[in-house]
Amino acid sequence: MRRKLGILISGRGSNMAALVEAAKAPDCPYEVALVASDKPEAEGLAWAASQGVATFAQSPKGMPKAEYEAKIDTALREAGVEAIALAGYMRLLSDDFVQAWRGRIVNIHPSLLPKYKGLDTHRRALVAGDLVAGCSVHVVTEELDAGEVLGQAEVRIEARDTPETLAERVLGEEHRLYPRVVAQWLAR
Ligand code: GAR
Repeated sequence: MRRKLGILISGRGSNMAALVEAAKAPDCPYEVALVASDKPEAEGLAWAASQGVATFAQSPKGMPKAEYEAKIDTALREAGVEAIALAGYMRLLSDDFVQAWRGRIVNIHPSLLPKYKGLDTHRRALVAGDLVAGCSVHVVTEELDAGEVLGQAEVRIEARDTPETLAERVLGEEHRLYPRVVAQWLAR
């Protein structure tokens, strides 16, 4: 039985697309049961729907966070979701939500954690003079970007890199890393 994965996105969803593409392999241990977003206009939602993947959108505007998250939670559970992958989901999950799904949420983050938690990771790596950047897949806990790291990929920083050029190369690695690590995580 393939495990049912739910994916949360806020934007273009290229990591979500990499997860959906990988799930087309017959030996992939997961299937994508739902792609959900806090942004009804998120580009990735239309792409997911075009692939025949179920989608759900709920804007948090004008309602308490708990009510918003309850709607997301219900949509995930109704789709039979067993585990959640955050893929450019740019909203902090509440402690209650994280506890309800404890150990069953992963995130991809564009730095070599524990370096550069939070935002603006590529610029911070360049300002620090780092020679290597990269991305990490980690378990989501109540503390931002601090849960167990399940896998990382490194990218060499070039002298002429800008935050944009570095972000593009790191994103390419994200697309390779995330499906591989999610598959290992769900197969164990
Ligand atoms: C990715 O680079 C991801 O690592 C990052 O946002 C981008 C989303 O791109 N996530 C974070 O910064 C989380 N704090 P995508 O929508 O094309 O997958």
